[in-house]
Amino acid sequence: MRFQGQAVLVTGGGSGIGQQVCYAAAREGARVAVGDLDQAQAEKTAAAIRAEGGEAHGFALDVTDAGSVTAFVQAAETTLGRLDVLVNSAGIREIVSVLDLSLEEWSRVLAVNLTGTFLASQAFARRLVALGQGGRIVNLASTLGISASPNRAAYVASKHGVVGITKEMALELGDRGIRVNAVAPGVVRTPMTERYFQDPVQSQVIRDIHAVGRWAEPAEVAHAILFLAEERNGFITGAILTVDGGWTIGKKM
Ligand SMILES: NC(=O)c1ccc[n+]([C@@H]2O[C@H](COP(=O)([O-])OP(=O)(O)OC[C@H]3O[C@@H](n4cnc5c(N)ncnc54)[C@H](O)[C@@H]3O)[C@@H](O)[C@H]2O)c1
Repeated sequence: MRFQGQAVLVTGGGSGIGQQVCYAAAREGARVAVGDLDQAQAEKTAAAIRAEGGEAHGFALDVTDAGSVTAFVQAAETTLGRLDVLVNSAGIREIVSVLDLSLEEWSRVLAVNLTGTFLASQAFARRLVALGQGGRIVNLASTLGISASPNRAAYVASKHGVVGITKEMALELGDRGIRVNAVAPGVVRTPMTERYFQDPVQSQVIRDIHAVGRWAEPAEVAHAILFLAEERNGFITGAILTVDGGWTIGKKM
């Protein structure tokens, strides 16, 4: 088992991709700290892992709040007895034209997706440095961290920012044994995107933008995240791994 005995912390672990990371890591032997704004959902994820015989604990977490983030990392270390991997999956997005986007909405999306990723990564890395050990961080960027899409200005800006902070932290922390990478998924069917799939026209557009002719299931992204987090992939850092079914390679004419 690739993560036997290792402590894996997941923000946004109550739903979607983060939840699948929790499940997949636990099946590989990890002990999991599930953090989410929705504490009930975090506890549900943890309970499902325990029901399969794994070890997991749910925690209330607001990644926009430095105190909450520090408390999460502390609680995870106390409960699991060590720290190895952090996955930053907490995220939100708006759907509104750039002309109508309010400062409040812009700030909210940036606070969760970008500031939240920074705060959690910083708190985790500070603790690793204090312990004198390495670790791995995997961030959730997006194809929209590489390219743009209408009506998602704050989301696109936040995910471009996640690409930036991934490279920056990888550069600054590499010689301390801390690797920092990101995945850039295409459209993944989760509660965040579920309403797209209620519309047959939009579902077809989603099929068409991916070279593979379909969207992703969250477990597929979780596997790519765990690949980046594996100890044996120790020479991969600062990478932005597209998990996008070919979305960003080009347009079919
Ligand atoms: N679904 C996609 O198509 C897709 C594509 C590319 C990237 N992503 C990214 O993957 C990540 C996970 O997305 P998902 O599709 O699984 O979404 P999701 O909505 O299913 O899950 C996101 C989770 O984050 C939690 N969250 C929101 N704000 C939080 C906060 N302040 N503190 C802690 N937790 C908070 C939510 O409660 C939820 O459980 C996000 O960063 C998203 O931007 C998703």
